[in-house]
Amino acid sequence: MQSTRRHLAPYHVCDIQGDDIQGLGTIKLPFKTPLRALEVAQGAADVSIVVRKTYEEGFVAISGAALKKARKTWENNEKKRLKAAEQSAKNAAEAEKQAAEEAARLEESKKIVLTVDESLPAAKKIRIRDSTESRETRVVVSGWVHRHRVQGKDMAFVVLRDGTGYLQCVLTGKLCHTYDALTLTLESTVKIYGVIKELPAGKTAPGGHELQADYWEIIGKAPGGEEAFGNQLNTESGPNVLLDRRHLVIRGETTAAVLKMRAHVMRAFRSFFESRHLIEVTPPLMVQTQVEGGSTLFSFDYYGEQAYLTQSSQLYLETCLASLGDVYCMVDSFRAEKSHTRRHLSEFTHCEAELSFIDFDDLLQFIEDMVVYVVDSIFDNPETAATMKELNPNFQRPRKPFRRMNYADAIEWLREHDVRNEETGEHYQFGEDIPEAPERRMTDTINEPILLCRFPTEIKSFYMKRCPEDRRLTESVDVLMPGVGEIVGGSMRITDLVELFEGYKREGIDPSPYYWFTDQRKYGTCEHGGFGLGVERFLAWLMNRYSVREVCLYPRFMGRCQP
Ligand code: 4AD
Repeated sequence: MQSTRRHLAPYHVCDIQGDDIQGLGTIKLPFKTPLRALEVAQGAADVSIVVRKTYEEGFVAISGAALKKARKTWENNEKKRLKAAEQSAKNAAEAEKQAAEEAARLEESKKIVLTVDESLPAAKKIRIRDSTESRETRVVVSGWVHRHRVQGKDMAFVVLRDGTGYLQCVLTGKLCHTYDALTLTLESTVKIYGVIKELPAGKTAPGGHELQADYWEIIGKAPGGEEAFGNQLNTESGPNVLLDRRHLVIRGETTAAVLKMRAHVMRAFRSFFESRHLIEVTPPLMVQTQVEGGSTLFSFDYYGEQAYLTQSSQLYLETCLASLGDVYCMVDSFRAEKSHTRRHLSEFTHCEAELSFIDFDDLLQFIEDMVVYVVDSIFDNPETAATMKELNPNFQRPRKPFRRMNYADAIEWLREHDVRNEETGEHYQFGEDIPEAPERRMTDTINEPILLCRFPTEIKSFYMKRCPEDRRLTESVDVLMPGVGEIVGGSMRITDLVELFEGYKREGIDPSPYYWFTDQRKYGTCEHGGFGLGVERFLAWLMNRYSVREVCLYPRFMGRCQP
């Protein structure tokens, strides 16, 4: 610390090697400027300063003019410093006063106790979705504080959310003077009583009305300060933070709308299947057979035996045909996908159906009808149609018939458009699997739904029926949608026992655990086929979401198994 004490010895100032920060004003450690000497001497009238301009000349007493100039600067600086100190003291006092007033106001507010006005009619308990039909009657609504805005001392607006909708509530007078009102935080739960009134023209709020409160109470207060909801998430939160806090993210308007749409879409699929008299079944998810290749199997120890999480319920659905007729299921399938693409999940909801006594064309038509039915039911319902307008205003409803294209035509298309294998730089050849990137390129360029049919046997699963007209091919189909790519995989199934054993052999599958699947060909075989649709991919297409992760409640993919 530098000394600021008055001393009689002169302060040394050196133009050549002095330093105003490190210097002490001594011969050895002189200051750089006379101003610094004056600062240290606190402007003392009798200050003594010697200055050195050259080594030859050495330290000599400061000239009167130089001292006068330095003193003038010091005095100006001192004035500014005092003014700033004064202002900051004033600000601190003001802040203290305000804090004290606020504390007193809060303390005072604790004395304000709200009571229900017993002369009012009894309040009817409603959900926000019932608001419109409940206008002009006294109601009570419970929910979470979605938004909160204070307007002056006597008015506050709370947008309440209860999962069924949003309702603006107005608290006036005493209702916004209580301790709970003054300390209200986002995401607190509250119960508000009052009358819902239509808004006058020119004012806007969800539903075109607002609840004018006559009483309210806190149910559960959410934290403020550091832990406040707004500090948990914001527009700058990175993807991992958003995934870790998915339980809070789902409270957001868009995510909630997406998840609701998911429910509507699943209901629409069920409704379509009902309309076609398919029976819903719930096959086991813990299995001992693979369906779509061993590389994506999740295995686990099942009481000492090896078991897997199902990749597809198809084989079980096939066993139901002889018993229940045409069937479907909407349960989860699992794939140990080691890729981080925007359309792959480790767990996804698989909408699968199986139909008996059909041919390949029946299968294609069924899939087409289903997609159009589900989209139509979303647009026929005013509520979901409105959500679609918000989420994906440019969506083009698919029209039947979808473009049908053979695998061989796709290979040709890629060649014509010079889309090459990224690794080899070569054109794709017949017999090669078409990976995600070129498939998307083709689908996005064509920009309409495609039924891509008749893949070669070698790149498809063991159970697929061969085409009678060309036995190198299978009666298989992938439905490709712009923006997402494949959303459905389906096929006709092998009906012949010998052919099925050839399929097991080709894929290196031990037939013994499949005895129950094989039996379907033994005890009355039939032409049949089916498909699996990835619900998340369908939703990503419908709502134009970048990734399938956005349409999951809690997505599962490599590296993520929580919350
Ligand atoms: O093409 P896949 O593998 O076909 C089957 O599983 C058949 N056994 C279905 C059947 O015929 N019953 O999968 C069908 C669909 C795909 O088109 C895709 O939409 C979805 O399931 N899917 C996935 N979705 C998200 N993440 C994954 N890892 C997926 N794997 C398949």
